[in-house]
Amino acid sequence: MGSRIRLLSLCLSIYLVNFSFIIANTLNERADVAVKGTFFIKGESAIAKIDDDFVCATLDWWPPKKCDYGRCSWGLASLLNLDLNNKILLNAVKAFSPLKLRLGGSLQDKLVYGTEDYKKPCTPFIKNESEMFGFTQGCLPMHRWDELNSFFQKAGAKIIFGLNALAGRSINSSFAVGPWDHTNAESFIRYTVGKNYSIHGWELGNELSGSGVGTSVSADQYAWDVIALKAIVQTVYRDVDPKPLVIAPGGFFDANWFKEFISKSGGSIDAATHHIYNLGPGVDEHLVEKILDPSYLDGEASTFRSLQNIIQTSPTSATAWVGESGGAYNSGHHLVSDAFVNSFWYLDQLGMSASYDTKTYCRQTLIGGNYGLLNTTNFTPNPDYYSALLWHRLMGRHVLSTNFSGTEKIRAYAHCAKQSKGITLLLLNLDNGTTVQAEVSVNRTVSLWQKTKSRHHHHHHHHHHHHRSKLAKLPYHRVNERVREEYHLTAKDESLHSQIMLLNGNILTVNSTGDIPALEPLYISSSKPILVAPLSIVFIHIPYVVLPACS
Ligand SMILES: *[C@@H]1O[C@H](CO)[C@@H](O)[C@H](O)[C@H]1NC(C)=O
Ligand SMILES: *[C@@H]1O[C@H](CO)[C@@H](O)[C@H](O)[C@H]1NC(C)=O
Ligand SMILES: *[C@@H]1O[C@H](CO)[C@@H](O)[C@H](O)[C@H]1NC(C)=O
Ligand SMILES: *[C@@H]1O[C@H](CO)[C@@H](O)[C@H](O)[C@H]1NC(C)=O
Ligand SMILES: *[C@@H]1O[C@H](CO)[C@@H](O)[C@H](O)[C@H]1NC(C)=O
Ligand SMILES: *[C@@H]1O[C@H](CO)[C@@H](O)[C@H](O)[C@H]1NC(C)=O
Ligand SMILES: *[C@@H]1O[C@H](CO)[C@@H](O)[C@H](O)[C@H]1NC(C)=O
Ligand SMILES: *[C@@H]1O[C@H](CO)[C@@H](O)[C@H](O)[C@H]1NC(C)=O
Repeated sequence: MGSRIRLLSLCLSIYLVNFSFIIANTLNERADVAVKGTFFIKGESAIAKIDDDFVCATLDWWPPKKCDYGRCSWGLASLLNLDLNNKILLNAVKAFSPLKLRLGGSLQDKLVYGTEDYKKPCTPFIKNESEMFGFTQGCLPMHRWDELNSFFQKAGAKIIFGLNALAGRSINSSFAVGPWDHTNAESFIRYTVGKNYSIHGWELGNELSGSGVGTSVSADQYAWDVIALKAIVQTVYRDVDPKPLVIAPGGFFDANWFKEFISKSGGSIDAATHHIYNLGPGVDEHLVEKILDPSYLDGEASTFRSLQNIIQTSPTSATAWVGESGGAYNSGHHLVSDAFVNSFWYLDQLGMSASYDTKTYCRQTLIGGNYGLLNTTNFTPNPDYYSALLWHRLMGRHVLSTNFSGTEKIRAYAHCAKQSKGITLLLLNLDNGTTVQAEVSVNRTVSLWQKTKSRHHHHHHHHHHHHRSKLAKLPYHRVNERVREEYHLTAKDESLHSQIMLLNGNILTVNSTGDIPALEPLYISSSKPILVAPLSIVFIHIPYVVLPACS
């Protein structure tokens, strides 16, 4: 019954689409839908739950003289010299409210804190190639720590501070032996609590797990040290609530080391952090090929799975975090790590890590090196900044089990929506020539499409409507028409190396007052298919698909 009316309204909506084509006149029609795929979503229950503030970014200590392969990419992006009065920096952090910021990196294990008890001069890192990491010990003056905290408060950031875990140990190149000397760290924590600075987590050490970077500490010793840190936190925060998290080890995953460490310190840590640089060295000429290769991207899943397994089978309430991840190590690669193409790697990592119950994912860096979310010299957001912000605003805490059939080149993730009872999909099209048409199928093949239409109908018409249609911006929706929100991300001039990203065809940029742009979706009728253009990324918020997993 009513099929004529349905047909009529279908024709009417097509008429409106065509009409809007003429007046909008901004279409870039591609008639190259070559592949259809099905996005299966299991709606019964969530497979994982991320933190509400899953997106995290790092700030590092590297001085301007830190160089890799002849390029010095850090500028004034160190915690010791970053311009905290920059308006874009403030707005960029505020836009997340809150953004987790993890303060750390290689030099954190060579950093001392210039508290009253520290009787020596508080001097900066000095370049010296014969020292580990190429620099001498450096010192954080308390007046700089005060400035940093004033910025963090203003920006609403949640701070994870990485403490020096090498203090007091003797280092024989590959091993750092002896217990952690926590005198200076404890004095720094007391100073911080005395000033009422809010710290979300104290993390111990950087890349000392497994065989380590620079040097390493045994899992057994590390467990004792983290138990000592926990005791310090419990004492110093005795009258303070909420208490900060205790986090460790902030190093590369090594199954045996992590297993021993977690089983011996499991009661003392709240989060087990690991670092990821799965694209190889920044100097690699084949980063783009790796990023666009689905099987290469899949390679990291075994690490997430293994850590999840260790946590599930150990007597611990700790959760898994990615404490630092920058794609390509040694500061990344200019025009790859800071360009559009990197969002395929980054968003895939967010999606994949979340599906293995990673609670927080810290991107190296917020600013500094070639992998900054912000441009190191002028602070303008790089493409990954906007990718992170869209993720943060759209992807809710509950992670849904998904798979995508039809092409290997689509990476597909789904979460319960952050802003409604519905769901949000994330699709990455790694293919450079094929537009993919995706049908969403929720468990018992409850189709996304309005139930009033058969599959055959919309296939006849899909080439008339393209996602870049401006129809959705016109006030023509029929009453009761169900509408989803789409955010299509593409590179300017279709150049993967572009540092400029388009959202629904419009350049994303801060304006003259340094404000982060509003991220506006297209509103698309549920009767239209989901189209994912070649080398594009799409977030789709579907408020009307309500699943048991999300209620
Ligand atoms: C660099 O460090 C080495 C080893 O610590 C030291 O012997 C040398 O004097 C330092 N060089 C300078 C210029 O300070
Ligand atoms: C360094 O320390 C480790 C652990 O104590 C020890 O096994 C190793 O022999 C030492 N290496 C050197 C070169 O002293
Ligand atoms: C400390 O900071 C918290 C918020 O972080 C605030 O509620 C409290 O009043 C502050 N206490 C003091 C003594 O300033
Ligand atoms: C910063 O932005 C400017 C202007 O877009 C660009 O020319 C430059 O390459 C960027 N710098 C970095 C380090 O990405
Ligand atoms: C994807 O999920 C659907 C529904 O759960 C299932 O029937 C199908 O076999 C899965 N395909 C793959 C490749 O896992
Ligand atoms: C598209 O990607 C394939 C590899 O997947 C590559 O061989 C080809 O050169 C690419 N085409 C363009 C136009 O970039
Ligand atoms: C769909 O949900 C039912 C329970 O309602 C479950 O038994 C079945 O396995 C699910 N099917 C798929 C493909 O997930
Ligand atoms: C910049 O953008 C913000 C947010 O969209 C807006 O409130 C502000 O008026 C804009 N400023 C200028 C000068 O356009």
